[in-house]
Amino acid sequence: MADSASRFQDPTLVGTRIRAQTANTIPADLPLERDFGEGTDYTITDHVRELHAKLTAPQSPRLALVMDRLVYHLHAFAREVGLTHAEWAAAVELIGRAGKESTAGKDEVVLMSDCLGLSVLVDEMEHPRPKAATEGCEEGPFYTKSFPEVPSGSCISHPDTVGQPLFFEATVKNTKGEPIQGAKAEVWQSDGEGTYDVMYDTPPESGADDRARIIAEPNGYFSYRGVLPVAYPIPDDGPCGTMLRALGRHPHRASHLHFRLTAPGYDSLTTALYPSHSPFLGTDPVFATRLSLIGDLEQAEDVGKWKEWGFDEADVRKRGGKVWAWRFAFVLASKEEVELERQNRKADRITPNTKL
Ligand SMILES: [Fe+2]
Repeated sequence: MADSASRFQDPTLVGTRIRAQTANTIPADLPLERDFGEGTDYTITDHVRELHAKLTAPQSPRLALVMDRLVYHLHAFAREVGLTHAEWAAAVELIGRAGKESTAGKDEVVLMSDCLGLSVLVDEMEHPRPKAATEGCEEGPFYTKSFPEVPSGSCISHPDTVGQPLFFEATVKNTKGEPIQGAKAEVWQSDGEGTYDVMYDTPPESGADDRARIIAEPNGYFSYRGVLPVAYPIPDDGPCGTMLRALGRHPHRASHLHFRLTAPGYDSLTTALYPSHSPFLGTDPVFATRLSLIGDLEQAEDVGKWKEWGFDEADVRKRGGKVWAWRFAFVLASKEEVELERQNRKADRITPNTKL
């Protein structure tokens, strides 16, 4: 069969639009050498993979490898479940809706990735940590660049913020158990309604509530006062919600605090902590909940403690008469430790020569 490269400029064979586009280039094309068909020894899978090997690999080996494995597994999945046309059409419709119904504040494609566990998987591979270090997770959609910087011991909630009083304290150490100097902890959390400051129609005047960058003390200790966060749902009014309902799943995330810890020489850690009393810990729609990040909280009813921590007694009584005390020991990995983990894991990755 004649190859296309020698004939793409022939006006008796090729229309003007193609000739115009390829006036200065030789089109990447291959003659059809073999027929392909399901149930034969050369299927559509083989054909697509061969095209990528010949046309994509020379210019972009990594893209060729990723697409080769994507096509292989996607086709294997379709064969394994005997994917029907109606099921394929339903999936295409759902993915199409995810694109159309995404907005500036709600990315349905990311939500779907989250709810299928793909985001967590990619994040784990991208941020390997030694076992001794605190587990991380994605920052989620409510992280902002604007954090008021405050000293340890500050209150990060407004006086009229809804919620029960919370006292949080933590240490920041390295994997050898040594306190880390110069640590900063960005914290952001929902209020007692399950709402983040950025979700309110009228954001607080200061531009931040239940959100701050706390400067830890030289011995790596920091604390803050605020309100206890409660469980809240991820957006479920779009195609991701449709998918969750079809799967018999719910959109509710257990209550949690988000943190991003930084310190010179250390790998930054983005994570979230969960109170053991929260519902939905085992059915997190985005799979970010980890056993090592769940902690038991104390309910302090001792007025002396409230005062020691800086609470106003009348305010605590108005909010239920107790302060939730939450403690955690963060462990950061050094940049060298993370790089070593990354190299070790890279060695396990497939190469273009890995046999499937
Ligand atoms: Fe959150």
